[in-house]
Amino acid sequence: MTSGYVLRSLLMLFLALFSANASNWLYLAKLSSVGSISDEETCEKLRGLIQRQVQICKRNVEVMEAVRRGAQLAIDECQYQFRNRRWNCSTLDTVPVFGKVITQGTREAAFVYAISAASVAFAVTRACSSGELEKCGCDRNVHGTSPEGFQWSGCSDNIAYGVAFSQSFVDVRERSKGQLSNRALMNLHNNEAGRKAILGHMRVECKCHGVSGSCEVKTCWKAMPPFRKVGNVIKEKFDGATEVEQRKVGTTKVLVPRNSQFKPHTDEDLVYLDPSPDFCEHDPRTPGMLGTVGRYCNKTSKAIDGCELMCCGRGFHTEEVEVVDRCSCKFHWCCYVKCKQCRKMVEMHTCR
Ligand SMILES: *[C@@H]1O[C@H](CO)[C@@H](O)[C@H](O)[C@H]1NC(C)=O
Ligand SMILES: *[C@@H]1O[C@H](CO)[C@@H](O)[C@H](O)[C@H]1NC(C)=O
Repeated sequence: MTSGYVLRSLLMLFLALFSANASNWLYLAKLSSVGSISDEETCEKLRGLIQRQVQICKRNVEVMEAVRRGAQLAIDECQYQFRNRRWNCSTLDTVPVFGKVITQGTREAAFVYAISAASVAFAVTRACSSGELEKCGCDRNVHGTSPEGFQWSGCSDNIAYGVAFSQSFVDVRERSKGQLSNRALMNLHNNEAGRKAILGHMRVECKCHGVSGSCEVKTCWKAMPPFRKVGNVIKEKFDGATEVEQRKVGTTKVLVPRNSQFKPHTDEDLVYLDPSPDFCEHDPRTPGMLGTVGRYCNKTSKAIDGCELMCCGRGFHTEEVEVVDRCSCKFHWCCYVKCKQCRKMVEMHTCR
């Protein structure tokens, strides 16, 4: 019995070490906020970083607070985009934060990698623009007069810096293992696709100057899209993700669509290697696999948020709950709106 126990422990240790989960750094989101990564020494103590990330941390201590915010942004956006899905991106207080749910090379893993790589690029770029970092500021390469006749001025987001930082900090986990595995190829592709979701949606924002807003002079700058937009783009890529397999071209490994009828994926698309589990049942052996018992569902929807699919055919409970709403709003001269509070009963459905 004792030796069985020892063997089991060794096996667990082995699994812990080699179920390498490159998104472990997302655990930074669990740190309590501002100033939590204040000096080089802190870098050593951070959970979820590999040695090379610790080195990057030490060389860029001032950037790490932005990385922490990026991790939080990634988790929040994942929970928003997946709020109506069976796996809703819930986190645990462990490393990795998603438990074992994304250890396999599934579509969900593809989404998590893309959104995380994007969120670091985004948060670091934001920090550059806001002037909180010494290493970077606004993008000064954007200057002069545009063909449309406006003046480039103001603070253009330095997306090149944020993207480069994300490439070194997030991608280092895949590159530190010598020969690239299929999974590393998948992760690297999706990390890059995530960053492209920002790069491909940069916008021009402008301000008018002149007498009473006459716009005699217009100054403009380049700005990142809101992160919600980035999340929407990556979620769309998730919905249309391509299942791939590894092929050798000469001596290099590449990922190609498993179904040769499909057109090849682009740099912006997400790719995955393994089919997803159904996420229906709670599985104690897979931390983070919570199942859908108790989840809200929509009785009239035929999509994944509908009770049929969300509850995996187990059926659902219905209860009447009272909700308070604003109603019969009246505009009063001048200038406010006064509403009544109305109570109404609505049906709520939860999965059995
Ligand atoms: C996700 O679903 C679980 C049950 O599967 C629930 O306990 C949790 O509150 C949900 N989380 C979010 C962020 O909606
Ligand atoms: C439920 O689904 C239907 C059909 O998709 C939709 O019109 C409705 O707004 C949904 N209800 C809620 C409460 O989300």
